[in-house]
Amino acid sequence: MKALVYHGPGQRGWDTVNDPTIIDQTDIVVRIDSSTICGTDLHILKGDVPETSPGTVLGHEAVGTVLEIGRNVSTVAIGDRVLLSCVSSCGRCRYCKEGHYGQCLGGGGWIFGHTIDGLQAEYARVPFADNSVYKVPDGLSDEQVLFLADILPTAYEVGVLNGMVSPGDVVAIVGAGPIGLAAILTAELFAPERIVAIDLADTRLESAVRFGANTTINNGREDALARVMELTEGLGADVAFEAVGVPQTFELATELIRPGGRVANIGVHGAPVTLHLEKLWIRNVTITTGLVDTFTIPRLMRLVASGRLDPSLFATHRFALEDTMDAYDTFADAASTNALKVVLQGSDRRPASPVSIAEVALV
Ligand SMILES: NC(=O)c1ccc[n+]([C@@H]2O[C@H](COP(=O)([O-])OP(=O)(O)OC[C@H]3O[C@@H](n4cnc5c(N)ncnc54)[C@H](O)[C@@H]3O)[C@@H](O)[C@H]2O)c1
Ligand SMILES: [Zn+2]
Ligand SMILES: [Zn+2]
Repeated sequence: MKALVYHGPGQRGWDTVNDPTIIDQTDIVVRIDSSTICGTDLHILKGDVPETSPGTVLGHEAVGTVLEIGRNVSTVAIGDRVLLSCVSSCGRCRYCKEGHYGQCLGGGGWIFGHTIDGLQAEYARVPFADNSVYKVPDGLSDEQVLFLADILPTAYEVGVLNGMVSPGDVVAIVGAGPIGLAAILTAELFAPERIVAIDLADTRLESAVRFGANTTINNGREDALARVMELTEGLGADVAFEAVGVPQTFELATELIRPGGRVANIGVHGAPVTLHLEKLWIRNVTITTGLVDTFTIPRLMRLVASGRLDPSLFATHRFALEDTMDAYDTFADAASTNALKVVLQGSDRRPASPVSIAEVALV
């Protein structure tokens, strides 16, 4: 098959690699119908993620069709259309039993395109299928559910739920990339009074308005703290999300909240950050951090099916899967292409066949 392969810092290729096969009897093999690229893939390509070895197929978000199932898989059948989550769950360890799949101790967690071959490929092996894939309801398109693999649950779980957004809240979101925009979509479910989006890029702020932000602040030109104080009678926001991942934006998020407010850090940080406890201790603030678990995928899928949530807004560019190399160029140059998410569309080469189950059973 063909797949997008990481070859070490700065190097990738659309290569011919071995077709995936069932290794453990809890695996399935899927044909990738739709996949996408994440900012994390760009981090890997920069060499920021040393656990990812050269030769790994990248990608951790996809919708696929089940082609083969291992003997011990009981909830997924050949031909099912499934959403593949960025986080896999062994279903057996302490963390998985508590719904914290991101912290799985049994070989799951974020493994696709990280420690095992990922999903920007024609086919993929999916471990722990019973606990890690989600059937897509009939009538929903790939693009309606694809972004539930990562950005929607991340923003919802690590931002909105951790930050306990409540009706009438003023929610300030620092960073209006895909994660910040997904935080706007999912914060809206809780009827906040106002959503304030803060970013350095005007194009991202324009997207924030399309996604439902009421106020935008370009903190390259404006004093974000002064604007938020003005909007909140000098108190500050009820909740602030950090959705960038640099010290400056974390510090800004802690300044923007009112006494008793909540800061939910979503950004992945690579450098130490100063926590101004000397100013914060007296203000009763709560600060949360987290890695996505994706335990909310079923709930988010129901919201999409009922028309309450429309993540297809993220799909700004579409490419054939075989043009994944070009899709990377477009996604990596978001400043000029205005890309939010690119959709990689697979072609149906190998039909789902019941023969494969017999082959697997003989192994
Ligand atoms: N916690 C998790 O489980 C989890 C999961 C996925 C992604 N993330 C992280 O979430 C963060 C956001 O992801 P993304 O895909 O939206 O990233 P992105 O890089 O596409 O977007 C970041 C946005 O922040 C803006 N920005 C940069 N510097 C800024 C500043 N000083 N002030 C205001 N805005 C600024 C950029 O213009 C951009 O629009 C990243 O750190 C990512 O690694 C976390
Ligand atoms: Zn991702
Ligand atoms: Zn586990």
